[in-house]
Amino acid sequence: SEFNNILVEKRGAVTLVTLNRPKALNALNSDVLRELGEAFAAYDADKSQRCLVLTGSGEKAFAAGADIKEMVEKDAVDFYLEDFFSGWQTKVVKGTRKPWIAAVNGFALGGGCELAMMADIILASDKAKFGQPEINLGVAPGMGGSQRLTRAVGKAKAMEMCLTGRMMDAEEAERAGLVARVVPHDELLTDAMKTAETIASKPPMAAIANKEMVNSAFETTLEHGLSHERRLFQILTASEDKVEGMKAFVEKRDGEWKGR
Ligand code: HXC
Repeated sequence: SEFNNILVEKRGAVTLVTLNRPKALNALNSDVLRELGEAFAAYDADKSQRCLVLTGSGEKAFAAGADIKEMVEKDAVDFYLEDFFSGWQTKVVKGTRKPWIAAVNGFALGGGCELAMMADIILASDKAKFGQPEINLGVAPGMGGSQRLTRAVGKAKAMEMCLTGRMMDAEEAERAGLVARVVPHDELLTDAMKTAETIASKPPMAAIANKEMVNSAFETTLEHGLSHERRLFQILTASEDKVEGMKAFVEKRDGEWKGR
Protein backbone atom coordinates (compact mmCIF):
# COMPACT_ATOMS: atom_id res chain seq x y z
CA SER A 1 0.00 0.00 0.00
CA GLU A 2 1.02 3.64 -0.35
CA PHE A 3 0.98 4.11 3.44
CA ASN A 4 3.72 3.62 6.03
CA ASN A 5 1.76 3.87 9.26
CA ILE A 6 -1.56 2.24 8.43
CA LEU A 7 -2.78 -0.77 6.46
CA VAL A 8 -5.80 -0.39 4.21
CA GLU A 9 -7.65 -3.32 2.72
CA LYS A 10 -10.98 -3.51 0.90
CA ARG A 11 -12.95 -6.61 1.86
CA GLY A 12 -16.06 -6.57 -0.29
CA ALA A 13 -17.97 -3.42 0.60
CA VAL A 14 -16.02 -2.89 3.84
CA THR A 15 -12.73 -1.01 4.14
CA LEU A 16 -10.51 -2.33 6.93
CA VAL A 17 -7.97 0.19 8.23
CA THR A 18 -5.33 -0.94 10.74
CA LEU A 19 -3.16 1.45 12.73
CA ASN A 20 0.26 -0.08 12.19
CA ARG A 21 2.91 1.24 14.55
CA PRO A 22 2.77 -1.66 17.02
CA LYS A 23 6.22 -0.90 18.52
CA ALA A 24 4.92 2.53 19.59
CA LEU A 25 1.57 1.04 20.63
CA ASN A 26 0.07 2.71 17.53
CA ALA A 27 0.73 6.21 18.89
CA LEU A 28 -0.84 8.86 16.69
CA ASN A 29 1.55 11.31 15.03
CA SER A 30 1.15 13.76 12.16
CA ASP A 31 2.01 11.09 9.56
CA VAL A 32 -0.70 8.80 10.93
CA LEU A 33 -3.21 11.66 10.73
CA ARG A 34 -2.21 12.49 7.14
CA GLU A 35 -2.52 8.85 6.08
CA LEU A 36 -5.78 8.26 7.94
CA GLY A 37 -7.18 11.44 6.40
CA GLU A 38 -6.33 10.14 2.92
CA ALA A 39 -7.71 6.66 3.63
CA PHE A 40 -10.96 8.01 5.08
CA ALA A 41 -11.42 10.45 2.17
CA ALA A 42 -10.86 7.61 -0.32
CA TYR A 43 -13.39 5.46 1.57
CA ASP A 44 -15.96 8.26 1.62
CA ALA A 45 -15.57 8.87 -2.13
CA ASP A 46 -15.64 5.19 -3.18
CA LYS A 47 -19.19 4.12 -4.09
CA SER A 48 -18.27 0.43 -3.73
CA GLN A 49 -17.39 0.94 -0.04
CA ARG A 50 -20.22 1.20 2.46
CA CYS A 51 -18.68 0.78 5.89
CA LEU A 52 -15.19 1.10 7.41
CA VAL A 53 -13.60 -0.65 10.38
CA LEU A 54 -10.62 0.92 12.18
CA THR A 55 -8.53 -1.24 14.51
CA GLY A 56 -5.00 -1.43 15.93
CA SER A 57 -2.22 -3.88 15.08
CA GLY A 58 -0.40 -5.88 17.72
CA GLU A 59 -1.69 -7.57 20.84
CA LYS A 60 -1.72 -4.61 23.19
CA ALA A 61 -3.11 -1.41 21.79
CA PHE A 62 -5.73 0.26 19.66
CA ALA A 63 -3.72 3.47 20.15
CA ALA A 64 -1.86 4.54 23.30
CA GLY A 65 -2.37 8.21 22.53
CA ALA A 66 -0.99 11.10 20.61
CA ASP A 67 2.73 10.53 19.98
CA ILE A 68 4.46 11.92 23.05
CA LYS A 69 7.86 11.73 21.32
CA GLU A 70 6.55 14.06 18.60
CA MET A 71 4.93 16.47 21.07
CA VAL A 72 8.00 16.68 23.29
CA GLU A 73 9.83 18.47 20.44
CA LYS A 74 7.19 21.17 19.98
CA ASP A 75 6.60 24.43 21.81
CA ALA A 76 3.36 26.37 22.21
CA VAL A 77 4.02 28.43 19.09
CA ASP A 78 4.39 25.25 17.00
CA PHE A 79 1.15 23.84 18.42
CA TYR A 80 -0.65 27.11 17.67
CA LEU A 81 0.78 27.71 14.19
CA GLU A 82 0.08 24.10 13.15
CA ASP A 83 -3.36 24.31 14.80
CA PHE A 84 -2.25 20.99 16.29
CA PHE A 85 -4.94 18.27 16.50
CA SER A 86 -7.46 20.24 14.39
CA GLY A 87 -7.00 17.86 11.46
CA TRP A 88 -8.62 15.02 13.41
CA GLN A 89 -11.88 16.96 13.55
CA THR A 90 -11.80 18.21 9.95
CA LYS A 91 -10.48 15.08 8.20
CA VAL A 92 -11.66 12.15 10.26
CA VAL A 93 -14.92 13.46 11.74
CA LYS A 94 -16.28 16.14 9.39
CA GLY A 95 -14.72 14.63 6.27
CA THR A 96 -16.42 11.25 6.66
CA ARG A 97 -20.15 11.16 5.96
CA LYS A 98 -20.36 7.39 5.66
CA PRO A 99 -20.45 5.19 8.76
CA TRP A 100 -17.38 3.73 10.43
CA ILE A 101 -16.66 1.50 13.40
CA ALA A 102 -13.77 1.56 15.87
CA ALA A 103 -12.84 -2.01 16.87
CA VAL A 104 -10.88 -1.33 20.06
CA ASN A 105 -8.50 -4.24 20.60
CA GLY A 106 -6.51 -2.99 23.61
CA PHE A 107 -5.34 0.32 25.11
CA ALA A 108 -7.31 3.34 23.88
CA LEU A 109 -5.62 6.10 25.85
CA GLY A 110 -5.53 9.86 25.38
CA GLY A 111 -5.74 10.52 21.65
CA GLY A 112 -6.47 6.79 21.15
CA CYS A 113 -9.60 7.04 23.27
CA GLU A 114 -10.47 10.29 21.52
CA LEU A 115 -10.03 8.69 18.08
CA ALA A 116 -12.29 5.78 19.10
CA MET A 117 -14.90 8.28 20.26
CA MET A 118 -14.87 9.93 16.81
CA ALA A 119 -16.25 6.67 15.41
CA ASP A 120 -19.97 6.12 14.86
CA ILE A 121 -19.86 2.84 16.80
CA ILE A 122 -17.26 1.53 19.26
CA LEU A 123 -16.93 -2.23 19.64
CA ALA A 124 -14.55 -3.27 22.41
CA SER A 125 -12.52 -6.41 22.97
CA ASP A 126 -12.85 -7.68 26.54
CA LYS A 127 -9.18 -6.65 26.88
CA ALA A 128 -9.82 -3.03 25.87
CA LYS A 129 -8.94 -0.21 28.26
CA PHE A 130 -10.05 3.40 27.90
CA GLY A 131 -8.54 6.44 29.55
CA GLN A 132 -7.63 10.12 29.34
CA PRO A 133 -4.28 10.13 31.21
CA GLU A 134 -3.06 13.44 29.75
CA ILE A 135 -3.06 15.04 33.21
CA ASN A 136 -0.03 12.85 34.02
CA LEU A 137 1.86 14.70 31.27
CA GLY A 138 0.88 18.13 32.56
CA VAL A 139 -1.71 18.63 29.85
CA ALA A 140 -5.31 17.64 29.09
CA PRO A 141 -7.26 16.03 26.26
CA GLY A 142 -6.72 17.86 22.95
CA MET A 143 -8.67 15.80 20.39
CA GLY A 144 -12.14 16.01 21.92
CA GLY A 145 -11.87 13.83 25.03
CA SER A 146 -13.23 16.32 27.53
CA GLN A 147 -16.30 16.88 25.33
CA ARG A 148 -17.03 13.47 23.79
CA LEU A 149 -16.25 11.42 26.91
CA THR A 150 -18.46 13.68 29.01
CA ARG A 151 -21.32 13.40 26.52
CA ALA A 152 -20.87 9.60 26.34
CA VAL A 153 -20.54 8.67 30.02
CA GLY A 154 -21.66 11.79 31.89
CA LYS A 155 -19.77 14.23 34.10
CA ALA A 156 -19.22 11.87 37.06
CA LYS A 157 -17.03 9.33 35.29
CA ALA A 158 -15.53 11.75 32.74
CA MET A 159 -14.34 14.14 35.43
CA GLU A 160 -12.94 11.32 37.57
CA MET A 161 -11.09 9.81 34.61
CA CYS A 162 -9.61 13.12 33.44
CA LEU A 163 -8.54 14.18 36.95
CA THR A 164 -7.09 10.84 38.09
CA GLY A 165 -6.01 9.40 34.73
CA ARG A 166 -7.49 6.03 35.68
CA MET A 167 -8.49 3.57 32.96
CA MET A 168 -11.92 2.06 32.42
CA ASP A 169 -12.08 -1.58 31.39
CA ALA A 170 -14.38 -2.76 28.60
CA GLU A 171 -17.15 -3.93 30.91
CA GLU A 172 -17.33 -0.59 32.73
CA ALA A 173 -17.17 1.21 29.39
CA GLU A 174 -20.21 -0.71 28.16
CA ARG A 175 -22.11 -0.09 31.39
CA ALA A 176 -21.33 3.61 31.14
CA GLY A 177 -22.52 3.85 27.53
CA LEU A 178 -19.14 4.48 25.91
CA VAL A 179 -19.15 1.32 23.78
CA ALA A 180 -21.96 -0.41 21.89
CA ARG A 181 -20.86 -3.95 22.79
CA VAL A 182 -18.02 -5.95 24.37
CA VAL A 183 -16.80 -8.94 22.37
CA PRO A 184 -14.38 -11.75 23.34
CA HIS A 185 -10.91 -10.57 22.27
CA ASP A 186 -10.39 -13.27 19.62
CA GLU A 187 -13.74 -12.53 17.99
CA LEU A 188 -13.39 -8.75 17.84
CA LEU A 189 -12.39 -8.36 14.20
CA THR A 190 -14.84 -11.01 12.96
CA ASP A 191 -17.64 -9.34 14.88
CA ALA A 192 -16.67 -5.86 13.71
CA MET A 193 -16.52 -7.01 10.09
CA LYS A 194 -19.93 -8.70 10.46
CA THR A 195 -21.42 -5.56 11.95
CA ALA A 196 -19.86 -3.52 9.12
CA GLU A 197 -21.25 -5.94 6.51
CA THR A 198 -24.72 -5.57 8.04
CA ILE A 199 -24.44 -1.78 7.72
CA ALA A 200 -23.03 -2.18 4.20
CA SER A 201 -26.10 -4.20 3.20
CA LYS A 202 -28.46 -1.32 4.04
CA PRO A 203 -29.55 1.42 1.64
CA PRO A 204 -26.44 3.66 1.64
CA MET A 205 -28.19 7.02 1.44
CA ALA A 206 -30.32 6.05 4.43
CA ALA A 207 -27.14 5.05 6.29
CA ILE A 208 -25.67 8.53 5.79
CA ALA A 209 -28.91 10.19 6.89
CA ASN A 210 -29.28 7.97 9.97
CA LYS A 211 -25.71 8.83 11.01
CA GLU A 212 -26.30 12.52 10.40
CA MET A 213 -29.47 12.67 12.47
CA VAL A 214 -28.11 10.76 15.47
CA ASN A 215 -25.09 13.09 15.46
CA SER A 216 -27.46 16.06 15.47
CA ALA A 217 -28.49 15.07 18.98
CA PHE A 218 -25.00 16.10 20.15
CA GLU A 219 -24.87 19.38 18.28
CA THR A 220 -28.09 21.19 18.92
CA THR A 221 -31.32 21.72 20.86
CA LEU A 222 -34.09 19.09 20.91
CA GLU A 223 -36.38 21.35 18.87
CA HIS A 224 -33.78 21.85 16.14
CA GLY A 225 -32.73 18.19 16.21
CA LEU A 226 -36.31 17.01 15.77
CA SER A 227 -36.79 19.34 12.85
CA HIS A 228 -33.50 18.20 11.29
CA GLU A 229 -34.67 14.58 11.71
CA ARG A 230 -37.98 15.30 9.96
CA ARG A 231 -36.28 17.08 7.05
CA LEU A 232 -33.83 14.20 6.52
CA PHE A 233 -36.69 11.70 6.76
CA GLN A 234 -38.62 13.69 4.17
CA ILE A 235 -35.60 13.82 1.83
CA LEU A 236 -35.21 10.03 2.11
CA THR A 237 -38.81 9.54 0.97
CA ALA A 238 -37.76 11.07 -2.37
CA SER A 239 -35.12 8.34 -2.91
CA GLU A 240 -35.47 5.37 -5.24
CA ASP A 241 -34.38 3.18 -2.34
CA LYS A 242 -37.43 4.29 -0.31
CA VAL A 243 -39.74 3.21 -3.15
CA GLU A 244 -37.82 -0.07 -3.49
CA GLY A 245 -37.59 -0.69 0.28
CA MET A 246 -41.29 -0.32 0.95
CA LYS A 247 -42.26 -2.22 -2.21
CA ALA A 248 -39.90 -5.07 -1.28
CA PHE A 249 -41.46 -5.27 2.19
CA VAL A 250 -44.97 -5.53 0.75
CA GLU A 251 -43.79 -8.15 -1.77
CA LYS A 252 -41.98 -10.10 1.01
CA ARG A 253 -38.53 -9.99 -0.65
CA ASP A 254 -35.15 -8.32 -0.01
CA GLY A 255 -34.63 -4.84 -1.39
CA GLU A 256 -32.10 -4.14 -4.12
CA TRP A 257 -30.44 -0.84 -3.38
CA LYS A 258 -29.47 1.78 -5.91
CA GLY A 259 -27.79 4.08 -3.37
CA ARG A 260 -29.95 7.02 -4.37
C1 HXC B 1 4.72 7.70 21.96
C2 HXC B 1 4.43 5.72 23.08
C3 HXC B 1 3.17 6.13 23.55
C4 HXC B 1 2.71 7.44 23.17
C5 HXC B 1 3.55 4.15 24.30
N1 HXC B 1 4.61 4.48 23.56
N2 HXC B 1 2.66 5.14 24.32
N3 HXC B 1 5.19 6.50 22.27
N4 HXC B 1 3.54 8.17 22.37
N5 HXC B 1 1.52 7.90 23.54
C6 HXC B 1 5.81 3.68 23.31
C7 HXC B 1 6.70 3.60 24.53
O1 HXC B 1 7.50 4.75 24.63
C8 HXC B 1 7.50 2.36 24.22
O2 HXC B 1 8.51 2.69 23.29
C9 HXC B 1 6.50 1.46 23.52
O3 HXC B 1 5.47 2.33 23.03
C10 HXC B 1 5.87 0.43 24.45
O4 HXC B 1 5.31 1.10 25.56
P1 HXC B 1 5.60 0.67 27.10
O5 HXC B 1 5.32 1.87 27.93
O6 HXC B 1 6.93 0.04 27.19
O7 HXC B 1 4.50 -0.44 27.29
P2 HXC B 1 3.78 -0.88 28.64
O8 HXC B 1 4.79 -0.91 29.77
O9 HXC B 1 3.03 -2.12 28.33
O10 HXC B 1 2.75 0.28 29.00
C11 HXC B 1 1.64 0.52 28.16
C12 HXC B 1 1.03 1.90 28.49
C13 HXC B 1 2.14 2.99 28.44
C14 HXC B 1 0.36 1.87 29.87
C15 HXC B 1 -0.07 2.16 27.44
O11 HXC B 1 2.84 2.87 27.21
C16 HXC B 1 1.64 4.39 28.56
O12 HXC B 1 1.24 4.85 29.61
N6 HXC B 1 1.67 5.13 27.41
C17 HXC B 1 1.32 6.55 27.39
C18 HXC B 1 -0.19 6.72 27.49
C19 HXC B 1 -0.54 8.19 27.46
O13 HXC B 1 -0.10 8.99 28.29
N7 HXC B 1 -1.32 8.56 26.49
C20 HXC B 1 -1.76 9.96 26.31
C21 HXC B 1 -0.79 10.68 25.43
S1 HXC B 1 -1.21 12.40 25.32
P3 HXC B 1 10.04 2.23 23.50
O14 HXC B 1 10.75 2.93 22.37
O15 HXC B 1 10.43 2.68 24.84
O16 HXC B 1 9.97 0.75 23.35
C22 HXC B 1 -2.51 12.45 24.23
C23 HXC B 1 -3.20 13.77 23.91
C24 HXC B 1 -2.40 14.89 24.36
O17 HXC B 1 -2.90 11.50 23.69
C25 HXC B 1 -3.05 16.21 24.17
C26 HXC B 1 -2.16 17.26 24.75
C27 HXC B 1 -1.88 18.47 23.91
